Amino acid sequence: MPATRTPAQQEMLNSTFSRFWGEVDHLWTVAGQDQTNEARALIRTRLESERSTMTTVIARLLVQNSEAEGAAVQQITAIYGRVEKNLYMLLAAVVAAISITSALVIRHDRRVFAQLTRLSEERKELAGQVISVQEDVFRNLARELHDEFGQVLTAVGVMLQRVEKKLPEASRQREDIHEVREIANQTLERVRSMSQMLHPPVLDDYGLENSIEWYLRQFEKQTGFQVHYEKIGIGPWIGDTVAIHVYRILQESLNNIVRHSGTTEAWVKVAYSPATLCLDVEDHGAGLEGKPARKGLGLIGMRERAELLGGQIEFQRPAEGGTRVKLVVPLPAGGVHE
Ligand SMILES: Nc1ncnc2c1ncn2[C@@H]1O[C@H](COP(=O)(O)OP(=O)(O)O)[C@@H](O)[C@H]1O
Ligand SMILES: [Mg+2]
Repeated sequence: MPATRTPAQQEMLNSTFSRFWGEVDHLWTVAGQDQTNEARALIRTRLESERSTMTTVIARLLVQNSEAEGAAVQQITAIYGRVEKNLYMLLAAVVAAISITSALVIRHDRRVFAQLTRLSEERKELAGQVISVQEDVFRNLARELHDEFGQVLTAVGVMLQRVEKKLPEASRQREDIHEVREIANQTLERVRSMSQMLHPPVLDDYGLENSIEWYLRQFEKQTGFQVHYEKIGIGPWIGDTVAIHVYRILQESLNNIVRHSGTTEAWVKVAYSPATLCLDVEDHGAGLEGKPARKGLGLIGMRERAELLGGQIEFQRPAEGGTRVKLVVPLPAGGVHE
């Protein structure tokens, strides 16, 4: 261990070696002068003593060396310990940094998600409000048309009939009045059917099932379409708040068939079960696919209404081609909505 040997120890080692080699040189000189006995005596006395001194010094230095080695090993172990501790601390810091970053990211994501959920809820609520305001307006308009204009036109019709009866038969005036009365009657019919289209009074009075049947008859009459109607199961009483949306989805689906399918036939299937109502409206015409996406409000409105009912709506392509609007609405236990 030259690094730990002190100058005094080095000096002692050097002097021991030089004294030993000095004695060896002297011995060779004496032996060279044929003084063999003296040389032997020198070996026994001075050389032997120098050898034992040298051995003692070397042994002491070896002991010191091994002590120094032990201390070095301890130092190295301590250094390794410190390095290990530092590594653990670094590792802990890295893990902590990752954990904190992840926690912050998760918190941020959660906030964004909560915000999105809130916005989506608000949008849903707003859409629901818009639709219910629209339904209120339609209902009021339908009532106004029916009550105000309907009554006025009925009164006009009655008065014209009275005048007509007073006029001489086959006279020109009587013919004119008759014609005006016809126009008034036709207008009254149109006002009535507009009022019914806006909000069918049968929906409030006779329920969804009857309203659908009434509407399909009206639809066939007005458009010349052939509607194949199928009803499965017995419809429970479904209150106006649910029925109006199902009714509107049927109306929009059939109107779309008239406007976009290019056919003159439609299939309507309503299946009632205690827990659900399924409505399928189908045509075998042009179909929805492959058309440039048009921003019509009809399909969007149907989706909004289905969502309001907690139901699902799908736009499918039947095997025969064309379009199928498939609506499934859950009915609460007992099947009574209000
Ligand atoms: N039964 C259908 N057959 C073919 N295309 C349809 C049908 N229903 C809807 N579409 C297509 O989807 C589009 C969007 O429909 P909609 O939202 O009701 O808007 P609008 O009827 O006002 O155009 C329509 O413009 C039409 O191209
Ligand atoms: Mg439409």
